[in-house]
Amino acid sequence: MKQEELQAIASQFKHPTGEKGIEMANMMNETNINMTHHSIQNLHIEEANTILELGHGNAGHVEFIFEQAENIKYYGLEMSELMFQEARQINRNYVSQKQAFFSIYDGNLIPFEENLFNKVFTVNTIYFWQEPEKLLSEIYRVLQPKGILCITFAEESFMKQLPFTQFEFELYSTEKAEILIEKTSFKIINKETLTEKVKSKTGELVDRAFTTLVLEK
Ligand SMILES: C[S@@+](CC[C@H](N)C(=O)[O-])C[C@H]1O[C@@H](n2cnc3c(N)ncnc32)[C@H](O)[C@@H]1O
Repeated sequence: MKQEELQAIASQFKHPTGEKGIEMANMMNETNINMTHHSIQNLHIEEANTILELGHGNAGHVEFIFEQAENIKYYGLEMSELMFQEARQINRNYVSQKQAFFSIYDGNLIPFEENLFNKVFTVNTIYFWQEPEKLLSEIYRVLQPKGILCITFAEESFMKQLPFTQFEFELYSTEKAEILIEKTSFKIINKETLTEKVKSKTGELVDRAFTTLVLEK
């Protein structure tokens, strides 16, 4: 594959746009659903929790969140206008019932007041954070004391085998992510790395290692 084609794939992962972006988002939601569920389960969602997700893609997994407990509120933040629109459409019932709220932001400043959320999570976005320490301090600000943040990402050892990750992506091993967290006020309370089978571009099943870091304010 040509360099420009690889660059175009990387850009779609970072910021889905146009017809291709919708296709890409459907594929991502399907391929990454195990990672997404792992992140959500590690939040230990309880009744009346207010939850924030950064970079939800098409947000086809929001129903799973509402299955976790009663009386939850879900807020989704995206940088992609297309993903914001797709997520609102797919979750239109939750939106009209004022249980789910979607907004666009700049990827750096979280447009919410402090101490608003019990739980925050994000899956497959850390690679694209422009200023990781600043974004983590923003998440810290909007979390309640003792609030939980789950960060889920595919391990660098797997990701570096994908030819398009040489563009746009900053790859993380667990150790590198822990070094980043140590620069913030968060406390790491758990970490888990799992390996799952995913379909490669050529159709065969390959092992993907992914990690969820569980952090407490
Ligand atoms: C690779 S996709 C992952 C989507 C979904 N979470 C999943 O795992 O299937 C990355 C998504 O995060 C969004 N994104 C990129 N940088 C972001 C940031 N700093 N904050 C929030 N979302 C971001 C992109 O627009 C894109 O929809």
